[in-house]
Amino acid sequence: MHPKKEVTWEAFQLVDDAKKEVAIKAAMMVNDGDILGLGTGSTAHYFIQKLGDRIKNEEIGIMGIPTSYQSFFLAKDCGIPLTTLDEHLPDLAVDGADEVDPDLNLIKGGGAAHTLEKIVDSAAKKFLVIVDESKKVQKLGDFPVPLEVIPSAYRPVTQQVKKLGGTPSLRMAEMKDGPVITDNNNFVVDVQFKEIQDPQELEIELNNIPGVVENGIFPGIADQVLIGTANGVESVKK
Ligand code: A5P
Repeated sequence: MHPKKEVTWEAFQLVDDAKKEVAIKAAMMVNDGDILGLGTGSTAHYFIQKLGDRIKNEEIGIMGIPTSYQSFFLAKDCGIPLTTLDEHLPDLAVDGADEVDPDLNLIKGGGAAHTLEKIVDSAAKKFLVIVDESKKVQKLGDFPVPLEVIPSAYRPVTQQVKKLGGTPSLRMAEMKDGPVITDNNNFVVDVQFKEIQDPQELEIELNNIPGVVENGIFPGIADQVLIGTANGVESVKK
């Protein structure tokens, strides 16, 4: 969910139904024998669950490469055999997103997993994004860009980010005092830009700041996006 948007219970249910619908559709696109990148977040959660059902009911032989501890534990619970990028490259990666623009550029990292997500999603032969329609935007940047940052670099990184016109804010944990710590033991700095004119360029500029491990702009990596709407699933291809 967008950090700045309050939603009613009814609106939440509609979004949740749309997430389930696209996730199931994506899971039905998986072929026997596929190696799969397993995304992170609530939409990817439904995808992983449906994959587990297909393994049980249809006995398809697939293997997953998780993009976070969240997807690792869920995949184990769902009976999905796991592998690593050392052993296999994914045929297909399926993952959610926080924003999608008409050129299929994305912002990801609402769940602080964007570093491994970018590694796995980029390594896949095909990267399929699954979202509800609240994620569709004309231009990226309403959602702040998450940066995974080495903790000791926090101050200098925030200074550099301000020079690029961003307003940084350290992501704080909810069930822990202090900041969110990623799966890689780093901080997350969310950076609000007024508008992002050139996602490709900003992605490079942010990753050039010493101490930034990875940022949440995914420019031109997605091959296809499935969008859950009130009237069914829309598909947009590159
Ligand atoms: C995880 O870090 C993110 O990139 C998620 O993939 C993204 O936030 C989408 O999450 P939802 O499917 O929960 O909206």
